[in-house]
Amino acid sequence: MLVQVNLDHGTLLDALRKTTIYTNAPCNGRGVCGKCKIKITENVPPATAIETKFFSADEIASGIRLACAVTAPGTYIVELEDAIEKDSFSILSSYEVFEEVAELCYAEGFGVGIDIGTTTIAIELFDLATGELLRTHTFLNTQRTYGSDVISRIDYANKGGMDDLNAKIISSLKEGLATILGNAVLSKAIIAGNTTMLHLLTKADCSGLGIYPFTANFLDMKVGDLSQLLALSGEYTLLAGISTYVGADILSGILHTNMHKNDAICILIDIGTNGEMAIGNKHNILTLATAAGPAFEGGNISCGVGSIAGAICQVASDGHIKTIGDAKAVGICGSGLIDAIAVALANETLDETGSIETEVIHIAEDIYLTQKDIREFQLAKSAIRAGIEVLLVKYGVAASEIDHVYLAGGFGKFINLDNAISIGLLPNDFADKIQKVGNTSLGGVRKFLLYKDIKDEVQQIKSIAKDLNLAHDPLFNELFMEHMLFE
Ligand code: FES
Repeated sequence: MLVQVNLDHGTLLDALRKTTIYTNAPCNGRGVCGKCKIKITENVPPATAIETKFFSADEIASGIRLACAVTAPGTYIVELEDAIEKDSFSILSSYEVFEEVAELCYAEGFGVGIDIGTTTIAIELFDLATGELLRTHTFLNTQRTYGSDVISRIDYANKGGMDDLNAKIISSLKEGLATILGNAVLSKAIIAGNTTMLHLLTKADCSGLGIYPFTANFLDMKVGDLSQLLALSGEYTLLAGISTYVGADILSGILHTNMHKNDAICILIDIGTNGEMAIGNKHNILTLATAAGPAFEGGNISCGVGSIAGAICQVASDGHIKTIGDAKAVGICGSGLIDAIAVALANETLDETGSIETEVIHIAEDIYLTQKDIREFQLAKSAIRAGIEVLLVKYGVAASEIDHVYLAGGFGKFINLDNAISIGLLPNDFADKIQKVGNTSLGGVRKFLLYKDIKDEVQQIKSIAKDLNLAHDPLFNELFMEHMLFE
């Protein structure tokens, strides 16, 4: 796609963000991810040192640049070389339905359940008179152009970017709701998301989110008038969160899976840039979040991409690859990475310390893993595994004593469980107990929208859930070092 962009000040990335064109910028313009790749066809500026680090001499000569590195004012004709089309993301809107004992609460009109993810947004429209699901709509959270993880966005919000981030989420939601609602008049919207997403949606002060001791401006349920939030009729409810990094999306997941009602001990794991997890039953629940970093979402990996069409999502033991949408391979996403590493370990091109013999591990044409990629992956894998182990220790159970393991989120959709266990991401004793449960956050908002006495359940979860803060936890640090190795 060719576009003309006028740059007066700032960077070309800033100028692109002011348009309706979505530009991929996982590191929010810090010049470290190399993913805001564009091709300038006219008025090509000299390459900077950062660009020569990321691109070959041929690419530089052909006009390939980083949008965040171009600062010279002027008019540019830009080809968005690796542009991610907003609708090319594979977005998880389905979820496993758990048996429900509560009664449906019938009402007039239409209601929506909304899950605001850091990368993607999913909405379901229901007829409240019957509880029937009428439509589902998923789309990209365009805040992603200000960084792929919550830390980048908190940082940007606290440096004066709150209005930009809020404007992106509001316009994304308005557009998404207009698509799903058609002529339906909304009476209720139930919204879940991580604590940062809900702060950015309501323009709540984010100053405590990014610095120790990581305090949120609000974690309680919020009810308000949709006309003030999204210029629509009806009422909205933001679900309550548990802590700054275990937000309403996880509480919604607990609500959905009924962990808070069971005697059985369950563990809910949602793997993303933060590994958020909860363990427990109706008596008590412990939660924590570990900073896994962006590797599972393709960040900081040379050929890494999110779950977009063309992302390699599976690698078989014979090296055969599968891509999302069976499109031409454009990079590798988290589940593909797990497979590629499991295969490399099995054929001994990678050893258990994470060292590779050759310069790179080839996966497909122009798609490979470097030694640095493997190290990034080890950090992410170890953060998740150490988080699981800390939860088990603090809850006082062994992995073998867990009754159900719920793997939530888009990442869980394509993951090969045998490989995840063989590389040590998940404990061996979880085998045969793991259920891929899908978008449990969306499932929880559905339940909140449709069932009776549900506010009491939310309060119950809040009262029995205790969050573990891993900052400076020596046990976590010890386990983190231990699990850097591949099993
Ligand atoms: S290098 Fe430009 S956004 Fe990361």
